Amino acid sequence: MRTPIIAGNWKLNKTVDEALALAKDLKGQLSDLTDVEIIIAPPFTALAPLASTLTDSPIVLAGQNCFPSEGAYTGEISPALLRDVGCRAVIIGHSERRQLFAEQDDFINQKVKAALATGLKVIFCIGETLTERNENRTFEVLEKQIRMGMSGLDSAAMTRLTVAYEPIWAIGTGQTASNEQAQEAHHFIRGLLSQLFDVSTAEATRILYGGSVKPDNIDGLMHQADIDGALVGGASLKACDFIRIARYKRC
Ligand code: PGA
Repeated sequence: MRTPIIAGNWKLNKTVDEALALAKDLKGQLSDLTDVEIIIAPPFTALAPLASTLTDSPIVLAGQNCFPSEGAYTGEISPALLRDVGCRAVIIGHSERRQLFAEQDDFINQKVKAALATGLKVIFCIGETLTERNENRTFEVLEKQIRMGMSGLDSAAMTRLTVAYEPIWAIGTGQTASNEQAQEAHHFIRGLLSQLFDVSTAEATRILYGGSVKPDNIDGLMHQADIDGALVGGASLKACDFIRIARYKRC
């Protein structure tokens, strides 16, 4: 019903040559996969070269971030320029943007709206810190991030938005959420989407899990009812790991 998405967030890694080599490997070894959408988000400098390499491939190119306007904004990148260079998607609200660059929910909401208005698909990231989880505030935090970050969207816009639940304590730590913890959060998110939109919108929205996804934990995660794919950081940098993740064991 919901086509799964396996997305690789390369973060600030890979020279152009390294990015090209990895993208060629993925293109060669994933081209027969028809039941899962593959997205890769390389650093900005590799987008243009990768766009030409991937022209005849179903692999979708994504930006890792964008700014909601164009003009005198030194160092930023707009949704329109991402599209121009061949991106069809963008990651917005990643916890590293929230934590290291102090991005707030209302700014993230501006980016989400600008990216959707430009025709990009959006991977909208949310997630709680360890302290928030230990204080039993996970659902409260996720609800605030969704209500504010997705404010003003309608069901039509939601056809191009994917939610990525990424508990911050699991990102890059090797400590993944258990299948049950992830499923519980995803179930909560889908319930909230059905309140904010409607049941069919909630049922159609893909919700990805992110946070130390590896070849050895992807199968269990993908067997959970509300997990529709993964946003993969570290393990997306090695072709064999990312390919194994994309080839997770189907039911
Ligand atoms: P990780 O990163 O897989 O290295 O934990 C995930 C992410 O930040 O999207």
